[in-house]
Amino acid sequence: MKEINVPLEKETYSIRIERGLLDRCGALVSNVTAARHIAVISDAQVDALYGQRLENTLTAAGIHVVRLVFPQGEKSKCVDRLVQLYEQLAAAEITRDDCIITLGGGVSGDLGGFAAATFLRGIPFIQIPTTVIAQVDSSVGGKVAIDLRSGKNLVGSFYQPSAVWIDPDLLQTLPQAFIRDGMGEVIKYGYIRDIRLVERLEAWNETTLSSHWEEIIAACCTIKAAVVAADTRDTGERQILNFGHTIGHAVEGFYGFGTYTHGQGVAIGMSRLTARTEAAGMTEAGVTKRLRRLLQRYGLPIDVPASAEELLPFIKHDKKRRGQMITLVVVPRPGTCRLVPIALSEAAQYIGK
Ligand SMILES: NC(=O)c1ccc[n+]([C@@H]2O[C@H](COP(=O)([O-])OP(=O)(O)OC[C@H]3O[C@@H](n4cnc5c(N)ncnc54)[C@H](O)[C@@H]3O)[C@@H](O)[C@H]2O)c1
Ligand SMILES: [Zn+2]
Repeated sequence: MKEINVPLEKETYSIRIERGLLDRCGALVSNVTAARHIAVISDAQVDALYGQRLENTLTAAGIHVVRLVFPQGEKSKCVDRLVQLYEQLAAAEITRDDCIITLGGGVSGDLGGFAAATFLRGIPFIQIPTTVIAQVDSSVGGKVAIDLRSGKNLVGSFYQPSAVWIDPDLLQTLPQAFIRDGMGEVIKYGYIRDIRLVERLEAWNETTLSSHWEEIIAACCTIKAAVVAADTRDTGERQILNFGHTIGHAVEGFYGFGTYTHGQGVAIGMSRLTARTEAAGMTEAGVTKRLRRLLQRYGLPIDVPASAEELLPFIKHDKKRRGQMITLVVVPRPGTCRLVPIALSEAAQYIGK
């Protein structure tokens, strides 16, 4: 078992990482909330796999459980599903003394978390993430949101959970494509902040990975928790988490969302940017080769045919852009990074092949 505290201005919460945790949630609830009535929000796939087990442990602790289920997929992170959830929470007579648990990937956490942030002006919630992306990234940090037709995550809030409970064993049922997607972010954490994680990933492979999830998740959550605690509202240091993301988002956008997963986009972004910063002398010689070897070891792509000119329009529309400047996250050597603001007019030289 590993526990990581996330110290915030107002309240501190903990991330608990433990194999087999799902079946022990009932015993933990009273440490976090006095609620006797809990709404569990999941997508249909996760509910079918794990919903009953969570209900059983909570019921055994004397808690009344209602399971609210929506169809899986990004399309559910929308206003219509949100309104449906509000109505279901109202019908279940959930009050501010009660609690929501989001059980699932980033979609459940973002959608269910936004419902928790806004229903009755906010009720407590606990995240139980079930994908690699959710366990190492989306469940920590307090960002909750839904998508609009105009773009992803355009309506949301900063709303911290009361606890994050991570059971690495739940990844046993996660399809390989989603494991690989999450590994893009895992490798990112190593490269920006944790050389030991990089070295361990270099020693493991896709087959041996499954016995190391607990330490991988703990390493990633430790970094995310520290960065988030220093910058809860994403205005400064938190930007280091965007290593590879500016080009990654452009790759996702250029090829049409769904062609490359987010993690694949990030992999391509880290690989391309590092090749350029290495050529410019901002990154030590040999780092690009080492990074690419690691990405490929975990089934991730390292490049796409798209040219700088083709990607540039998508960078200009990036919502993280501030005025005519963008901030690059540059890795001088694995395990360290620095923020480098550049003018948009200079961007092409950092995103080309
Ligand atoms: N809030 C944040 O800070 C943040 C950070 C990163 C990503 N996100 C968001 O997260 C979302 C992507 O997350 P995701 O990839 O987890 O998506 P997801 O929630 O759609 O999960 C992916 C798929 O895996 C299935 N699944 C989940 N857990 C499973 C398990 N243990 N076994 C088998 N199948 C399982 C789901 O049913 C779904 O079909 C995006 O909407 C993204 O915007 C948010
Ligand atoms: Zn990301």
